[in-house]
Amino acid sequence: MIKVGIIGLGAIGQRLIPLFLNHPEIKIVAICDSLNERLNEIANQLENVHTFTNHKEMLSDSELDLVYVTVPPKFHHTVVSDVIDKGINVLCEKPLANSTEEALSLYHQAKEKGILHAMNFPLNYNGGSKTFAALIKDGYVGKLRRIELKMHFPNWPRPWQQNEWVATKEQGGYVLEVGVHFIQQIQKIFGDMKVIHKNIQYPEDPKASEIGIIANLELSDKTPILINGLSQIAGIEEIKFTAYGTEGTLSLVNWADVEGAKIGDPIQKIETDDSLKDSLINNVVKALKGEEAIIIDFAKGYEAQVVLEALRGEQ
Ligand SMILES: NC(=O)c1ccc[n+]([C@@H]2O[C@H](COP(=O)([O-])OP(=O)(O)OC[C@H]3O[C@@H](n4cnc5c(N)ncnc54)[C@H](O)[C@@H]3O)[C@@H](O)[C@H]2O)c1
Repeated sequence: MIKVGIIGLGAIGQRLIPLFLNHPEIKIVAICDSLNERLNEIANQLENVHTFTNHKEMLSDSELDLVYVTVPPKFHHTVVSDVIDKGINVLCEKPLANSTEEALSLYHQAKEKGILHAMNFPLNYNGGSKTFAALIKDGYVGKLRRIELKMHFPNWPRPWQQNEWVATKEQGGYVLEVGVHFIQQIQKIFGDMKVIHKNIQYPEDPKASEIGIIANLELSDKTPILINGLSQIAGIEEIKFTAYGTEGTLSLVNWADVEGAKIGDPIQKIETDDSLKDSLINNVVKALKGEEAIIIDFAKGYEAQVVLEALRGEQ
């Protein structure tokens, strides 16, 4: 059995618990959250689990094969660094850290220790996003002319993720929370990119995260990338990742749906290829057993962080 410890039991920590529980080779043996009430509530739903409000105590007092870190971004560096220090394999939530320096230091530390260092970027495992990537690889759009990422939110933060950090400039905003998933996908599917120009709008509260961004980036062959983010607007949430090419247009819509058409035809829904559907947890288990696996490691997390910080930084 792979003995797992979880640090952070908020919206996302709770989302992954059932996935760990469903894997026959995994046992959750320890959980940690600084909020005692939340810790006890989750402990009551699990069997024979040790509870901790301090992650260092959990790391010292438990025998663990893997630790999943899902605390807010500002704490990733400290907590993940302590996990690596103990020589324990680590699965970290995105973004890897809260600056390029922190991300690079985690990557170096993990590499030196020789542990498994994996990140949760779900678009690498979902049926829709994998269908999008496979169609691009098959040449559906022809020669790429432009990539666009639209992130429109009637309200930020979203109703399901209400906490004290996700709408702060310090460690929140949708460029960080949502944008980094697509930065990683662009790097994986289309290659390196850099930020050319950005225009970020902030509300009056100096501590609050962005309410708008228009950014212009480029792939290494100079193909343009447009990021169009807007919140506190009328209408419904739309997250649309589109590739425009010489032969067609293809979009991944709201994380899961694929739509597109060849030039001259109306845009249509495209069935996702569910045979491509994969699982983060299965891949982490495979990697721990030394088998071939799809793992987005800290090197990739660092590469995504470089672009993320170029977008987030002072303009
Ligand atoms: N992969 C994805 O699709 C995805 C989606 C949303 C968020 N995330 C990421 O997941 C992480 C968690 O997000 P969330 O929405 O669950 O946040 P959250 O605020 O709901 O949960 C974080 C939890 O960590 C606890 N915590 C904070 N500091 C701690 C510490 N030092 N030790 C122990 N516990 C501590 C808090 O009490 C809280 O329960 C963030 O990094 C976020 O960016 C990932």
